[in-house]
Amino acid sequence: MAKSKYEYVREFEAATDSRLLPDSYVVVRVDGQCFHRFAKEHQFLKPNDKRALDLMNKSALHVMRTFYPNIIMAYGQSDEYSFIIRRLAYFFNRRTAKITSLITSAFTSAFVFYWPRFFCSIPLKYPPSFDGRAVLYPNERTLTDYLRWRQVDCHINNLYNTAFYALTGEYTRYVPDTSNCSPSNSPPTTYNLFLGDPSAKAPNRTFYSHAEATQRLSGSSSADKNELMFTDYGVNYNDELQQFRKGTAIVLTPPQADTTTKVDLPETPAVVIKPSKSALKRSAKVEEDFAALAIDQQERFFTTLHTDIIREDGDFWTAYSHLLKL
Ligand code: GTP
Ligand code: MG
Repeated sequence: MAKSKYEYVREFEAATDSRLLPDSYVVVRVDGQCFHRFAKEHQFLKPNDKRALDLMNKSALHVMRTFYPNIIMAYGQSDEYSFIIRRLAYFFNRRTAKITSLITSAFTSAFVFYWPRFFCSIPLKYPPSFDGRAVLYPNERTLTDYLRWRQVDCHINNLYNTAFYALTGEYTRYVPDTSNCSPSNSPPTTYNLFLGDPSAKAPNRTFYSHAEATQRLSGSSSADKNELMFTDYGVNYNDELQQFRKGTAIVLTPPQADTTTKVDLPETPAVVIKPSKSALKRSAKVEEDFAALAIDQQERFFTTLHTDIIREDGDFWTAYSHLLKL
C-alpha cells in the first residue's frame, strides 16, 4: 500500500519510545490518586477497610492473570500495588509506555469492575484513577530490598494509623459476615459494615481530636503505641489481621500436580538480550494455553499470602526465591 505523505510523523513516535533495560527486574507500581478523598467519600473503615484491600487484591490478581506469566509476584498495601516483572520477560518488546499503561489500566478497570462485589450497596461516586510507574532493579538484592521497603512502610503506617484512630475513637474492627449482599451472579464476598467496637466506645475512654492525637503520637516509639492502644483502648495490635499488618503478596505458583490444566512455566532462556525466535514461540504457546483456561482455573496459578517478606531467611524467601530466577 502506498504510504501517505504524513507517514513521516511515525518517526516522532519511534524517537520517544523507550524500552526497559534487558536482563533487569522491572517493578510497575500503581497507586490510587488522591485516595485520601476517595476513602472518605466511600466511607472506608478506619484504619483499614478489608473490602477495599480485598478489592485491590482481586484487581491485582486480574493483572497477574492478564499478563501471565510475565509477572512473578505482586505486593500490595493501602492504595498501592507493585508488580514484579520477571527479569527475562520480553512481552511487548519491553516497551516502557506500553507495559506501564496496560498494567495501570487493567488494574483500574478491574477495580471498577469488581467494586460492587466488595462494596455491595455502596455505589461508586466517581471513577477512581491510579498512577503507574516503572522502575528498574538491576539485581536480586535491590529488588528484594524494594519489597522490604514497601512492607516496612506498610508496618509503620499501619501501626501509626491504628493507634491514631484508637485515640480519636474512629477505630473500627472488621467483622466477617457470611450473608450475601453481592449482586446476583457474583460469588459472595461480603463483610458487615462495621458495627462498632464496644470496648473502644466505652464511656471511660478519652477520645482526642485529630490535632491532639497527632500531638500525642509525636515522637512515640512502636512500643509506646502498642502500649497506649492496649492499655487505654483495649486494642491489641497483635490481633489485627495479618493482611493489615503485612500487606498482601501474590505469587506465581506452578500448576498443582492434581490440576486438570496443563500449562507450563516458561523455561529460563539462555539469551538475555532478546530471546530466540523459538523461545518466543514457546512463550507465546504458554500464554495461549493459559488464556484458554477459565478464570477460576487461571486463578489457581497464584497464591495469596499475608506474610513477612523482610527476613532474608524467612519462610517466604525460602519458598519463593526461585521466582527471581525465572
Ligand atoms: P496521592 O497518591 O499522592 O494521589 O495521594 P493519596 O491521597 O492517594 O495518598 P497516599 O497514596 O499517600 O495514601 C493512601 C491514602 O488512602 C491513605 O492515606 C488513606 O487516606 C487512604 N486509604 C487507603 N486504604 C485505606 C483504608 O483501608 N481505609 C481508609 N480509611 N483509608 C484508606
Ligand atoms: Mg495514593
